[in-house]
Amino acid sequence: MKVLIVGSGGREHAIAASVAKSSRVDKIYCAPGNAGIGQIAECVPIGAMEFDKLAAFAKEKEIDFTIIGMDDPLVGGVVDVFEAEGLTVFGPRKNAAILEGSKAFSKDLMKKYKIPTAAYETFDDPKKAMEYLKTAKMPIVLKADGLALGKGVLICNTLEEALAGVKEIMEDKKFGSAGNHMVVEEFMTGREVSVLSFVDGKTIKIMSSAQDHKRAKDGDQGLNTGGMGTFSPSPFYTAEVDEFCKKYIYQATVDAMAAEGREFKGIIFFGLMLTEEGPKVLEYNARFGDPEAQVVLPRMKNDIIDVMEACVNGTLDQIDLQFEENAAVCVVLASDGYPVSYEKGFPIKGFGKFHDEEGYYCFHAGTALNDDGEFVTNGGRVLGVTAKGSDLKEARANAYKATEWITFENKYMRSDIGKAIDEA
Ligand code: AMP
Ligand code: GLY
Repeated sequence: MKVLIVGSGGREHAIAASVAKSSRVDKIYCAPGNAGIGQIAECVPIGAMEFDKLAAFAKEKEIDFTIIGMDDPLVGGVVDVFEAEGLTVFGPRKNAAILEGSKAFSKDLMKKYKIPTAAYETFDDPKKAMEYLKTAKMPIVLKADGLALGKGVLICNTLEEALAGVKEIMEDKKFGSAGNHMVVEEFMTGREVSVLSFVDGKTIKIMSSAQDHKRAKDGDQGLNTGGMGTFSPSPFYTAEVDEFCKKYIYQATVDAMAAEGREFKGIIFFGLMLTEEGPKVLEYNARFGDPEAQVVLPRMKNDIIDVMEACVNGTLDQIDLQFEENAAVCVVLASDGYPVSYEKGFPIKGFGKFHDEEGYYCFHAGTALNDDGEFVTNGGRVLGVTAKGSDLKEARANAYKATEWITFENKYMRSDIGKAIDEA
């Protein structure tokens, strides 16, 4: 069969690598893709938000199955456009992708269906938000309602910071129209875990857990980024946590969406915080995490097309989802200066030692080919170097060893990805 993947980052490279392993697939296209994805798929220059062009391409090439990797097209309704054309597509429709697209929606849903999350209030008037904050306990969390590239969250330690935050989000519109509405949320403390799941509208199957490292610098210092590295599984995701989440969070979310007439098919990513009072939902995403996919998918034993097809067809209950009994660590190689400003266009060397079958993967996030056909850096996050190991410590040692194989000018990485496992 022919498969089209929509997106252009390390996540989509990991999805493409899984799809390439399927015995059912003969041809993979990726729109727009990147230079690394181009090694296993044919990249087509159509943007992820060009829904009509994507659907026309899928019809013309007789694509059997399309996978939407990114949040923006899902929230914008790309699945609805494909379905209207009679095309088979993996991902939630617009009315379900709102689970990620609107924080106010997801908070209201959790409140209505008693799914554990931080206490909150929503505002569409900055003056009312400021009044409320004057009586609130600090620290406090402000969230722009809509998609803001993971950056629309401000943690404020003082009232002054919080008032300035309201101005930034709602008045100065730092995150654009995402700031028309705002959620003000209780500050929680605890360890964060990412749990990804496949959902077919009624049944949910949980993937192996993971943990991201969002800050740019070692010791969780520096600015928030798209993610500087991940490990899977998380040793903090214990059997007890799993049991709690199965009872109060996972199926409850799927059932709540169905009850609201917003049947969810695709990936639900649960951003959890393990608080002293038990696990609580920090956020939902409607797609694989990036770089969580880079450590979870290489450990999945199933044929990804079988699982995704079951989600579309509503037959996920018949799938026995299985993961390898090992671990994986992904270290992101970034351009020095990310996420603020950085140079790009530097040649990258050292891909030769990576072999998927040996458990070493080099997923491309921001690369391009220069006129000489060489890989060059082309973004803030450049590569996601992933390695497996029999346990987390071995996976981490392997991943850091593999980061040394790659060279480019201004290469930057965190040196403490997975360090937390020493405390487990
Ligand atoms: P979100 O986009 O909602 O996941 O928020 C981004 C990051 O902000 C999370 O990964 C947390 O590190 C932090 N965060 C969000 N909400 C809270 C909260 N209520 N309490 C503490 N930290 C939070
Ligand atoms: N790594 C976090 C995310 O994909 O949102």
